[in-house]
Amino acid sequence: MTTLTPVLSAHWDEKDSFTIDAYKRHGGYKAVEKALAMEPDAVIQIVKDSGLRGRGGAGFPTGMKWGFIPQGDDKEHYLVVNADESEPGTCKDTPLLMANPHVLIEGMIIASYAIRAKYAFIYIRGEVTHVVRRVQQAIEDAYKAGYLGKGIFKTETDLELVLHVGAGAYICGEETALLDSLEGFRGQPRLRPPFPAIAGLYARPTVVNNVESIASVPSIIANGAEWFSSMGTEKSKGMTLYSLSGHVTRPGQFEAPLGITLREVLELAGGVRAGHEIKFWTPGGSSTPLFTAAHLDTPLDYEGVAAAGSMLGTKALQIFDETTCVVRAVLRWTEFYKHESCGKCTPCREGTWWLVQILRDLENGKGTAADLDKLLDLCENILGRSFCALGDGATSPITSSIQYFRDEYIAHLTNGGCPFDPRAATLFATAGVDAK
Ligand SMILES: Cc1cc2nc3c(=O)[nH]c(=O)nc-3n(C[C@H](O)[C@H](O)[C@H](O)COP(=O)(O)O)c2cc1C
Ligand code: SF4
Repeated sequence: MTTLTPVLSAHWDEKDSFTIDAYKRHGGYKAVEKALAMEPDAVIQIVKDSGLRGRGGAGFPTGMKWGFIPQGDDKEHYLVVNADESEPGTCKDTPLLMANPHVLIEGMIIASYAIRAKYAFIYIRGEVTHVVRRVQQAIEDAYKAGYLGKGIFKTETDLELVLHVGAGAYICGEETALLDSLEGFRGQPRLRPPFPAIAGLYARPTVVNNVESIASVPSIIANGAEWFSSMGTEKSKGMTLYSLSGHVTRPGQFEAPLGITLREVLELAGGVRAGHEIKFWTPGGSSTPLFTAAHLDTPLDYEGVAAAGSMLGTKALQIFDETTCVVRAVLRWTEFYKHESCGKCTPCREGTWWLVQILRDLENGKGTAADLDKLLDLCENILGRSFCALGDGATSPITSSIQYFRDEYIAHLTNGGCPFDPRAATLFATAGVDAK
C-alpha cells in the first residue's frame, strides 16, 4: 500500500484553496445540502456505518459519540470542535485549517444538524494567529453565503458558529478542560462521569470532536459510508493525515489509508535524510511510546500500533536519526509536560517535576544507575494514577526509551555526560558510543 489517497488534502497545492469559491469549485457545500434533506438520525447512521474514528488521539467511533446525545430532551445541544493541537509533533489540523477551512465548516454544519445543535464552537489554540484569521474569514464568508445563521441553505435549520481563541495551554486540548476554558474558567479537566454527551458545555449535551474528524464528514456524506470504509483496515477505516517531521528528506502531510507502514510513508517522503538512518520515532506524538527501526513495518492503524506496544495517537510521525541523543529528546519532552501540567493532581504535578530533575542529571552525566529505577518507579506512580491522560502521556517517552535505549542512558553515566555533545566526543569514544 504505497499510494496516497488525498481527500482532505486534495487541493492544498492550489493558490486559493482556502477560499469559499475554490471549495465550491471542487464540489464543496454539496454534501451538506444532501445531509439537510435527510433525517438527522440517518446522517448519524452513515457516519456510524463508515467506521470513522476520532482523529484527536483516542480513536473513539465518531458516529457512536453523536448517537450518545439524548434526543427529545428539550435542552440546547452543542458541537465543539477541538482545534487546540498542542501535542509536540502533531501538526495536521493547523495546515488543514490554513488550506481548507471550509471543509471543517461544512462538516460542522452536518454534525450540528445530526445532533440537533443550534450552536457550534471551534476552540483554537491562541498561538496560531494566522490560522485564527483564516478561519474567522471563512466563517464570515459562510455567513454571507447563507450557510450559517438563521434558516441555513433556505431550510428551517439554524446554526450559529463561534470561533474561540484559547490562551495557549496544552491541557486545554483535553476535552473537559477545553469546555471549562470555553466557559471562561481556568482550563482543568473535569471529573467524569458525567461525560460531555450528558453534561458538557454549560452542563448541556455536547459533542467534542477533533478538526480532522469533522472535516472527514463531508466526503463521507458525499461518497457514502462504503467508499470510506473501503479504505483502511478491518477496524481502522478510511484515509487520514500522517504528519511526517524530523530527520526526513521531505517532511510534510501524507494522506493515506489507515494501516500504511512507516517504511511506506518514508518511501513516499524520500527516506530518512541522506547519509543517515532511523534511530527512533513516535507513531502518534510525544505522548505515545517510542518505536525504533524494528517497527518500520508495523501497520499504522489503531490495532497494529497498540499490538506493537504504542498508540496511533495523532499520527504524528516524528523521525530521529542516529545523531539524536534519546535522553536529551526525552528530557525536552518531559520539560514540556512539567510545564504544561495543570497542577490539579499530585502524581502529575509533583511527578513531572521530579522526572525533569532526574533526567537533567542523567543527561548531564551526574546521575547514578539507581536513577533509572527511580525514573521507572516514578512513571509507575504517575501512569494510571493521574487525573487525566496528560500524566500518562508524560511517562510514555521515558519508559519506552529506557526499554529500547537503556545502554545509552548507562553511557551517559559511565562517560560523565552526553555522548552526543560534540565537546564530549573524546570522552565517549572510550565507551564505544558513536558521537556523530
Ligand atoms: C492533554 C491532552 C491534550 C489533548 N489535546 C487535543 C487536541 O489538541 N486536539 C484534539 O482533537 N484532541 C486532543 N485531546 C483529546 C481530546 O480530549 C478528545 O479526546 C478529542 O478532542 C475527541 O475528538 P475525536 O473523538 O474527534 O478524536 C487531548 C487529550 C489530552 C489528554
Ligand atoms: S494529570 Fe496533570 S494535567 Fe491532568 S489533571 Fe492531573 S495535573 Fe492536571
